[in-house]
Amino acid sequence: MRRAAVLGTGSCLPERLLTNAELEQMVETSDEWITARTGIRTRRIAGENEQNYQLAAQAARRALDAAEVRAEEIGLIIVATISPHMLVPSCACFVQTEIGAAKAFAFDLNAACSGFLYGLDVAAKYVAADPNMKVLVIGSETLSARVDWEDRNTCILFGDGAGACVVGSAEGRGIIGSRLYSDGSLWNLLCMDSPASRNPDLIAPASKGCFIQMAGRDVFKYAVRAMENAVTDLLTQQQLSIQDIALIIPHQANIRILDNLAERLGAQPSQIFCNVDKYGNTSAASIPIALDEAVREGRLHRGDKLLLCSFGGGFTWGSMLLEW
Ligand SMILES: CC(C)(COP(=O)(O)OP(=O)(O)OC[C@H]1O[C@@H](n2cnc3c(N)ncnc32)[C@H](O)[C@@H]1OP(=O)(O)O)[C@@H](O)C(=O)NCCC(=O)NCCS
Repeated sequence: MRRAAVLGTGSCLPERLLTNAELEQMVETSDEWITARTGIRTRRIAGENEQNYQLAAQAARRALDAAEVRAEEIGLIIVATISPHMLVPSCACFVQTEIGAAKAFAFDLNAACSGFLYGLDVAAKYVAADPNMKVLVIGSETLSARVDWEDRNTCILFGDGAGACVVGSAEGRGIIGSRLYSDGSLWNLLCMDSPASRNPDLIAPASKGCFIQMAGRDVFKYAVRAMENAVTDLLTQQQLSIQDIALIIPHQANIRILDNLAERLGAQPSQIFCNVDKYGNTSAASIPIALDEAVREGRLHRGDKLLLCSFGGGFTWGSMLLEW
């Protein structure tokens, strides 16, 4: 049976590392507090030549190489992001021209930290409609520009980076199913009023509305329950149990969220992929970066069942099951 499958993955992280020790110099916090409450030790911060679309394009090139697909073969580029380089044009259009995917149409998708999962689901539908279609799905963020560096509640959590997948039709493997959800009534628990800009002429430092605002405790509780339900619903639908899953890649927000989720699902720690200690929460980029690392570390083998799950602002959340 042919399915929409991940043909190759890639990622790109900025050079600059920001440690908890450095954050101690910026806000009233400590390495001990951050590590105990979040599991985050370092995060990457984008520099001048690491704009969102540049990270996205580099991740895309690596995914194309891994998939052995040429940029001209790509029919659609989806960039999931909440920190685009500009509001218009989309990050996806910048990526298109950067990598030379002249035949692709391109658009951005905003589903916050669930953006990559939503994007993969959209890609799967296009591939199902046209088996010749090849789609680049990218999650890319420069959240360092959307964080209030004076707010210790949020600035310790987020980081920059990009991850990408080439999606195309394959025999005997690929996306088996997905469950996606949203609840706009809870919008104010995790939000950003207006887009910030990386253009220094346009930055409005006094405008706190362009920064991420979050009710951390509430988000924590919803995130764990929502991802648990999304995974349980999908497993029930597919008549599988958690023991059938080789690897679970959840959105990387916080080690305590991942631990709680694993416990509620009855999953072994070895089933859960975690790199939040290195990169913090990279929103839409977290799952594709983690997926690329899992692939390069040899954690996935042909025939393995892979489960992705996410939670983010909106609220948006979901799960996806793939056969690798
Ligand atoms: C943000 C988060 C780490 C805070 O942890 P918490 O245990 O809920 O802590 P609280 O917010 O209740 O704050 C506890 C205390 O620590 C303080 N605190 C907050 N941030 C701090 C920091 N960086 N360093 C030191 N103290 C801090 C608070 O001010 C509070 O002090 P008080 O008791 O004197 O008022 C946690 O709520 C969380 O991870 N939430 C989910 C966030 C997330 O992942 N969002 C994205 C989802 S996509």
